Amino acid sequence: MTSTPHPVIRPRRLRSTPAMRRLAGETRLHAADLVLPLFVREGISAPMPIASMPGVVQHSLDSVRGAIADAAAAGIGGVMLFGVPEVRDARGSGATDPDGILNVATRLVREEAGDALLVQTDLCLDEFTDHGHCGVLDADGRVDNDATLERYRAMALEQARAGSQLLGLSGMMDGQTAAVRAVLDDAGFEDVALLAYSAKYASAFYGPFREAVDSQLQGDRRTYQLDPGNRREGLREALLDIEEGADIVMVKPAGSYLDVLADVAAASDVPVWAYQVSGEYAMVEAAAAHGWLDRQRTVIETVRGIRRAGADAVLTYWATELAGWLKDGVE
Ligand code: PBG
Repeated sequence: MTSTPHPVIRPRRLRSTPAMRRLAGETRLHAADLVLPLFVREGISAPMPIASMPGVVQHSLDSVRGAIADAAAAGIGGVMLFGVPEVRDARGSGATDPDGILNVATRLVREEAGDALLVQTDLCLDEFTDHGHCGVLDADGRVDNDATLERYRAMALEQARAGSQLLGLSGMMDGQTAAVRAVLDDAGFEDVALLAYSAKYASAFYGPFREAVDSQLQGDRRTYQLDPGNRREGLREALLDIEEGADIVMVKPAGSYLDVLADVAAASDVPVWAYQVSGEYAMVEAAAAHGWLDRQRTVIETVRGIRRAGADAVLTYWATELAGWLKDGVE
């Protein structure tokens, strides 16, 4: 033995000081890459808390203005609107009513947001149907794909007329992207963009969202949303949506599907987004409330992980708050 062996290669060098770590960092968070989902409920005059999502509320048409102002001031990229109607029926008529809550909220939010935020809308029937499914049912109670496409076409037109700039196709019906693209183009809405929730899994993580939109669903969505075990199929759905004309594709939920997200990001020639869903939010909030997790560090780590896996933008209920932290130099 002439000398004790020393490592020649020392990755720790790049971690040695804060300045070095900052410069060597691979994934940065930007406010502009964050999108805030917002719930607007018909017939209420003050915001209503959502018990399973502490800090998130169902907005009134009035209180949503404040949320838009805060989001714009924080510099986030946009908002995704969900409507919670007072009355529901089998066809989800409220979705195609120009005076339905989502369309009314969209008009108002467009006015409020100006050019500061991209205004996006959820294009799905589940908030509006009395059975809670994302489509209409056939005589045997099954979700009827092609009859649902008719409803989505009508819904897309109303959302475009209301001023939505990006339609979030979250219903997981086959052919929905092509169907909606065609009807928009025929009506002169070539500039309204489509965000396809391409790889949307039948996930338990949507639990708190069901409370947020007062969902009437009995049973589950497994005949249209993806099996959580299927990775290849997630990529297949994304590629299909790109072929059908999607401007942006999405993977949802985010945190438990980072492999799918990485696959889609590697193959896609359009932007890829991810939705950090209600259950992902609730888990962190619950643990943080117990003092079991450092809330701020955990939030940042979850969103950074989603960006690292390949998401160009992230829908997250923390969007405005996180953007505020970034402004303060926290990362
Ligand atoms: C369907 C839709 C859902 C979510 C967004 N759009 C619910 C579902 O598919 O059951 C879930 C979002 C979340 O959990 O945060 N309109």
